[in-house]
Amino acid sequence: MEENKRKRMLSGIKPTGKLTLGNYIGAIKQFVSYQDEYDLLVFIADLHSLTLPIDPKELRENTKDLIAIYLACGLDPEKVILFKQSDVHEHAELGYIMACNSNMGELHRMTQFKDKTAKLGANDSIPTGIFIYPTLMAADILLYDADYVPVGVDQKQHVELTRDIAIRFNHFYGDTFKVPEPVLAKKGAKVYSLSDPSKKMSKSESDKGTIYLLEDLNITRKKIMSAVTDMENKVRFAPESQPGISNLLTIMSALTNEDVSSIAKRYENGGYGNFKKAVADVVVDELAKLQAKVKEIQNSGVVDEILAKGAEKASFLARKKLAKVYRKVGLR
Ligand code: TYM
Repeated sequence: MEENKRKRMLSGIKPTGKLTLGNYIGAIKQFVSYQDEYDLLVFIADLHSLTLPIDPKELRENTKDLIAIYLACGLDPEKVILFKQSDVHEHAELGYIMACNSNMGELHRMTQFKDKTAKLGANDSIPTGIFIYPTLMAADILLYDADYVPVGVDQKQHVELTRDIAIRFNHFYGDTFKVPEPVLAKKGAKVYSLSDPSKKMSKSESDKGTIYLLEDLNITRKKIMSAVTDMENKVRFAPESQPGISNLLTIMSALTNEDVSSIAKRYENGGYGNFKKAVADVVVDELAKLQAKVKEIQNSGVVDEILAKGAEKASFLARKKLAKVYRKVGLR
């Protein structure tokens, strides 16, 4: 029988805070577009949500929303292995092995660690989990021999570290892991905040710059209408000089599949108010459909069974890989 030549792809989202339009455009839409072509695993990175303090009730709610969002966006459990990270204990076990095969220097260099801890200030109470976060992420990826990892720009560095760890491990213990490559969305690999377009749109920044997928759509419209722009009064794709307008163009382009340049041309001289209204219409329309599907899925009671089946399939792969790693390092 001919060997299955399909490449494997894997990615995850952590259920910390509410999902944003950045997660949707930079990550989920990509996952959906790849499900027919790749052997795809998508998971809820719930262990990663524990790396900074989180209310258990909120974690449970976010997890429930995230799986419903995955399904509502069109991930098909018949094609994709959909599962919860904490259901497959091998992630934590390989995470420990990864922590033992990385060093403090490379973990200190991670931009996300620097950003997150800058907010906490320099103090001894920075949780260790946030420091070793990338080693757990490396385990998530290497456990399944993923060829590709679709992520937004902010996670690219973690995938590069995963590559370094895999190469080093293979060198020391002999060929064990596939060395993965990050894949960025062609449009919207970094969606910016509406209120400060120099910053990433982020779940942890609960402000008027972030569009949440399940929020009240009147609020969504208001946020877009009051997005920060500039004084040029010309709709152009110029990320350096007109970051706010360019971000709105990117959002619209990612949701409609129309080129930024042709959108810009259509609204170029029509005034910013007019353009923003068009962007708001597109976003609100997309989110209205999504929200309706999320409700339907949450009321249908299918989620638990999908997660149980996903965990079973993922565990089968993870168990084999971890056994190999344990042999390689001398634990077996
Ligand atoms: P997380 O949960 O912060 O984000 C999930 C995905 O959304 C992307 N993203 C964005 N893309 C474009 N514009 C934005 N403003 C934006 N904000 C977020 C992120 O880049 C990411 O792809 N560590 C990961 C979760 C994870 C993971 C993994 C991912 C755990 N293990 C293994 C891939 C493979 C995270 O915290 O992403």
